[in-house]
Amino acid sequence: MVDRCICFSRPFTELKRIAEREDARDVEALQCKVDFGLKCGLCKPYVQRMLDTGRTRFPVMRKIEFD
Ligand code: FES
Repeated sequence: MVDRCICFSRPFTELKRIAEREDARDVEALQCKVDFGLKCGLCKPYVQRMLDTGRTRFPVMRKIEFD
């Protein structure tokens, strides 16, 4: 399961709390409030899905599911 930005050691539960507090609705808006997703970037589609669904744990997505 994927539940965090590994590069920045940020659990999605923490990112979700910040997004709700700051009313950040997409990855770019959330990145203005907290550092994540700026190294390998693999967490970003998961974070967007978190923002869309409220979920904080995801099965590993295949590349086709990122689009
Ligand atoms: S896992 Fe988030 S930038 Fe690498």
